Amino acid sequence: MTALSFTVKATEGKARLGRIETAHGPADTPIFMPVGTAATVKAMTPDSVRATGAQIVLGNTYHLMLRPSAERIARLGGLHRFMGWSGPILTDSGGYQVMSLSKLRKLTEEGVTFQSHIDGSRHLLTPERSMEIQDLLDATITMAFDECTPYPAERQTVAESMRMSMRWAERSRAAFRPRPGYGLFGICQGGVHGDLRAESVAALTAIGFEGYAVGGLAVGEPQDEMFRVLDETCPLLPADRPRYLMGVGKPEDIVGAVLRGIDMFDCVMPTRSGRTAQGFTRRGEVNLRNARHRDDPRPLDSACSCPACTSFSRAYLHHLVRAEEILGAMLLTWHNIQYYQDLMAGLRAAIGEQRLAAFVTDFHTTRGLGDI
Ligand code: GUN
Ligand code: ZN
Repeated sequence: MTALSFTVKATEGKARLGRIETAHGPADTPIFMPVGTAATVKAMTPDSVRATGAQIVLGNTYHLMLRPSAERIARLGGLHRFMGWSGPILTDSGGYQVMSLSKLRKLTEEGVTFQSHIDGSRHLLTPERSMEIQDLLDATITMAFDECTPYPAERQTVAESMRMSMRWAERSRAAFRPRPGYGLFGICQGGVHGDLRAESVAALTAIGFEGYAVGGLAVGEPQDEMFRVLDETCPLLPADRPRYLMGVGKPEDIVGAVLRGIDMFDCVMPTRSGRTAQGFTRRGEVNLRNARHRDDPRPLDSACSCPACTSFSRAYLHHLVRAEEILGAMLLTWHNIQYYQDLMAGLRAAIGEQRLAAFVTDFHTTRGLGDI
């Protein structure tokens, strides 16, 4: 019985080019995972997600346990078959979403009781139940059950929260059912405190996981604080396991985190902002709702291979957004995921060819030029 495997193929500074081999196929790192919360990457078909170059998508325990339920998805053959995605799926464990979405939640050593944001029904999520749900979903990568410590918080609060997450990590490991090509990732907490992060990493590595996530970041702290935590934390993590920075982020956050040794990312930004008229380009972010695009026959990004850019003008995308046409959300979501996948492919190629430093300089220079 061998869990999913990870191979580092090249490094440049702290940055790593690698490959995760799973029961559902490979994932080349550094990698961005589009968010498919409710068993769909919103406004995209699985084929179109795949066409952008995405290899792995994210699903959510919290949403799927409430609707349509993990047991129903299991009866229907698991999440891969249910949503028509045959590649690897990573599922988040639920605690983070409970705290941000549900009402009347109560956190104890046992777990979290909460009321559904959909129908008010009462539920209990524990490390054991979270492992069971992710198993029913047939997640390729299961995340340990944790608490994402709020920011800002008193140091003592951060320490107690982190220590409970470490006890939950141990319960998660004990409850996880290992299978060939599958894996369980632990989640490091400790806020912005280097010593608490170190204590968390020591606790997680003593338990042993197939991969290690850094949680509790991108929760409102400045970017330099996040980068400092990564500077202090990444060198402590096992070099032979993938590292996942949860919920990150903006393109410049991803580039900075790759430079510091992170391998995996997820964020709602490309998908959510695609539904609110924001397009990512090499020269920065563009709001397609803006009247300056009204008569512009040029593509959103002439360097992009997606349908929004090869078949349509900025004027047309502007029209779709203004008319609230569904196709506007579809095309901008496709484009944004394509942008993120192209960015990751660029980072991987640069690390492989030992020209990451020049790639990053060009990335920042081009963004600094501003939109065309
Ligand atoms: N998503 C973003 N941050 C976190 C975190 O700290 N924990 C979990 N489980 N999910 C996250
Ligand atoms: Zn495009």
